[in-house]
Amino acid sequence: MRIIIYTGKGGVGKTSVSAATARRLAKMGYRTLLMSTDSAHSLGDSLGVDIPADVYNLDKNLDVLEIDIIHEMRTRWSDISDYITSFLTSQGLGDITAEEMAIIPGMEMIAALFYVLQFKENDDYDVIVMDTAPTGETLRLLSFPDISNWYIDRFYSMFKRLMSLARYTVSKIIDLPIPNKKVIASIDEMKDKMLEVRDILEDPATTIRLVLNPERMVINETMRTYTYTCLYNKTVECLIVNKIYPREELKSDYFKERLEAQDKYMEEIDHAFSPLKIFNAYQMSTELRGPEKLDMLADMLFGDSDPSEVYETESPMKFESEGDIDKLIVKMPFVKKDMIEMFRSDNDVLIIKVGSHKKTITLPLTLKDAEVLGAELNNEVLTISLKRKNVAK
Ligand SMILES: Nc1ncnc2c1ncn2[C@@H]1O[C@H](COP(=O)(O)OP(=O)(O)OP(=O)(O)O)[C@@H](O)[C@H]1O
Ligand SMILES: [Mg+2]
Repeated sequence: MRIIIYTGKGGVGKTSVSAATARRLAKMGYRTLLMSTDSAHSLGDSLGVDIPADVYNLDKNLDVLEIDIIHEMRTRWSDISDYITSFLTSQGLGDITAEEMAIIPGMEMIAALFYVLQFKENDDYDVIVMDTAPTGETLRLLSFPDISNWYIDRFYSMFKRLMSLARYTVSKIIDLPIPNKKVIASIDEMKDKMLEVRDILEDPATTIRLVLNPERMVINETMRTYTYTCLYNKTVECLIVNKIYPREELKSDYFKERLEAQDKYMEEIDHAFSPLKIFNAYQMSTELRGPEKLDMLADMLFGDSDPSEVYETESPMKFESEGDIDKLIVKMPFVKKDMIEMFRSDNDVLIIKVGSHKKTITLPLTLKDAEVLGAELNNEVLTISLKRKNVAK
């Protein structure tokens, strides 16, 4: 199953591009799901229809799903959320606040991924197009393998311990609600699903497309996102440059400066993100809303090509051996030396930190206990050299 995730800064056109792509794919005969994880849903607005809370068949081959996390917590995850809510209420929080608190940030994404899992198991779709909230949330999604590790290793075992404690002792002493079998089963299920979700995210058929506009602040944020996606070892497959002012149509002096700046930015995008494939769409003169306009957008972007194609497959992170030295090579676009920090934790874990984002890399078994010889950054590629521990003494 192909999964295309569109991300980018607020307002650049993620929702429109996602809807346009999904409509095109459905028309081409792919069983398509257009899914939104942005809690401020706007797929309905973009498509010009009202979308109910569950999977909704909009057109031939085209279903739509807007994840509503409160609905999810009340239905699919009601056991866990009721427990957390009653736990928080027992701690003195009011009902409503407790219900809100039971929602962990990023839950929309996790809920969306659980759906994806189910669709994959049932072979419901050929392609899922994901429209996301502005950048931050997608980065959270990409760090999911790390986060789920954390959940599974620490949170989960701690939670289980706490629960057994509550079951046998604490509940008698202080008044804590006791998690019942259903809650525990729910948590076990969540844990298993997290592991499966990780595989989906790491699948090369799941790719990221960055949507941007030819504007300074948007380009800057897109560069940062590109850096972080590389750090999370996720392939950015192409760029979608949207809302380009059409030079031919805007000849008056009023737009002169704007167009000149735009030319400069277009060149910069080309240069900075090369060799990524770039698709362009012009700013339309009318409101971009409803099926016809979306189809015009898809035509502008993809011409006659198939938008489900995977345009880039090389992953940003790889291991190579050179003699008895092993190298971890990480593509690090737009990064300067002093922006990178590296840590070693345990014997087989390397942590690379860039800005506020960090990637935990578990070294392959052969490199457990390996000595880090050094790291260098050349042409936006970080190379970490490791020497295997000499076992034959
Ligand atoms: N090529 C275009 N021509 C004209 N209008 C456009 C174009 N692309 C997007 N728009 C308009 O820009 C606005 C923002 O687009 P859209 O909702 O798709 O962006 P978004 O990135 O999903 O925003 P958000 O971050 O708020 O979710 C909408 O009103 C949309 O109709
Ligand atoms: Mg949107």
